[in-house]
Amino acid sequence: MTWWRDAAIYQVYLRSFADGDGDGTGDIAGLESRLGYLRELGVDALWINPWYVSPMADGGYDVADYRAIDPAFGTLADAERLIEAAHRFGLRIIVDIVPNHASDQHPWFQQALRDGPGSPARERFHFRDETNNWQSRFGGPAWSRVEDGQWYLHLFDAAQPDLNWEHPDVRAEFPSVLRFWLDRGVDGFRIDVAARLVKQAGLPDKRGRIEGVPTFTDADDAPDKDRPEVHEIYRDWRLVLGEYGPDRVFVGEIWVRDPERFALYLRPDELHTAFNFEFLKCAWEAGAFREVIDRTLATHAKVGAPPTWVLSNHDVTRHVTRYGRKRSAFLKREHGVPTDLALGTRRARAAALLTMALPGGVYVYQGDELGLPEVFDLPDELREDPVFRRTGGLDLGRDGCRVPLPWGGDAPPFEFGKGGAWLPQPPEWRELTAARQLGDPDSMLSLYRLALRIRRGEPALGDGGMRWLDSEPGVIDFERDPGFRCVVNLTGHEIDVPPGEPLIASAALEGMRLPPDAAVWLRTSD
Ligand code: GLC
Repeated sequence: MTWWRDAAIYQVYLRSFADGDGDGTGDIAGLESRLGYLRELGVDALWINPWYVSPMADGGYDVADYRAIDPAFGTLADAERLIEAAHRFGLRIIVDIVPNHASDQHPWFQQALRDGPGSPARERFHFRDETNNWQSRFGGPAWSRVEDGQWYLHLFDAAQPDLNWEHPDVRAEFPSVLRFWLDRGVDGFRIDVAARLVKQAGLPDKRGRIEGVPTFTDADDAPDKDRPEVHEIYRDWRLVLGEYGPDRVFVGEIWVRDPERFALYLRPDELHTAFNFEFLKCAWEAGAFREVIDRTLATHAKVGAPPTWVLSNHDVTRHVTRYGRKRSAFLKREHGVPTDLALGTRRARAAALLTMALPGGVYVYQGDELGLPEVFDLPDELREDPVFRRTGGLDLGRDGCRVPLPWGGDAPPFEFGKGGAWLPQPPEWRELTAARQLGDPDSMLSLYRLALRIRRGEPALGDGGMRWLDSEPGVIDFERDPGFRCVVNLTGHEIDVPPGEPLIASAALEGMRLPPDAAVWLRTSD
């Protein structure tokens, strides 16, 4: 069996993970110094957000050179050393590849600006004399004007011009970039915005769009999403990956709701896995979870791909916060949304056990294992996410889930590094530092470490099947062979723990009763 079918993959948002040189920004040296922590946590691989040369207009998702490391993070030699060191620690490395757009500082775009309208250099992007009605996914128009009067398309920030995937140079460039990193030993790639590379010919207007309103909910059939031709690209890439043996992997960032269309990306000659955003978006309701889980399993079974289970990432409100809210306010990023963090934390503990018990792979976003909540009260002038600016502050943006990790000590920057931290950490995170949690068997970190260890050793867990067991509404109850059962209580009352030997529970089991918002794993006899 291949490792990625049931891997526990830890997402490293490098800028905020650990700072090795004291400049307030996380870097490769910081990550290297914490590899022991990650090994002890018990994950199998790291997915590292973009580390390439970038003006950081979108936290590194604006790449100016796909074959070099940004000086803020280190050097290419540091990256090579990191990959080797990680491998020595038993950790595989997945890097982020950003093919939908480049930075406006990328040499191709700079040349396009210089060479002017009608030049071959402009054809690598989407330059037009007139715009259509598309809006940027970060808010505001998806078109910006250059000095000579032409417009260029950017689905994200103006500093992220979309590449033209009809152009042979663009098609040829990325397999070469993949090879560059494969030659340096990376074990796989996370593909950014994987469903949007190809645009419908002629860039027709979108239907039913409201000008000026930021929206993140394009229909699946939008002219810049999920075009059938995009699959050719991944078939092509899969051949490249295949040259490096069966152990390298693609994971796609695919926000396509229709399960049938989503599954097409996971056919055996395309991507290996994709993030399960339907699960991430699911509110804390047993019925809704069961439905998403069923749909996920059915969708993936059709193409033989393993499901993944994702609770948080660097783009969404942290789940400790989400689960502490009413369903209607679930993903909101604004001030003053009523949130019960104690409740959210209890549920986050239960959710961790749920995701690690389900068939397939599991993702841990840095800080999940510390139970970090979303941070809302950041000073506006320190916010860096273009979403904040481009929506005029209507959406606070994603900085609040990207606050540097608290490692130890009693005051910010909590041993993040010797200098400060590029975003301020709340003083109350003194209770949530890794060092403090390591010493507490009841902490979120201890729960994650134990659960990941059990998951690794338990033959029933990881890849494979599962069976639902009859349960009262509000309870999630399933078993896996051999001899494993997971029960999550989403009712408002205690329930009986079924027969079996408890392996781990997200809350204390008083007299074999499972409290509300808690989960337990059991070893059963058959
Ligand atoms: C993806 C990334 C996000 C980035 C966007 C544009 O959604 O996860 O962080 O802003 O793509 O590259």
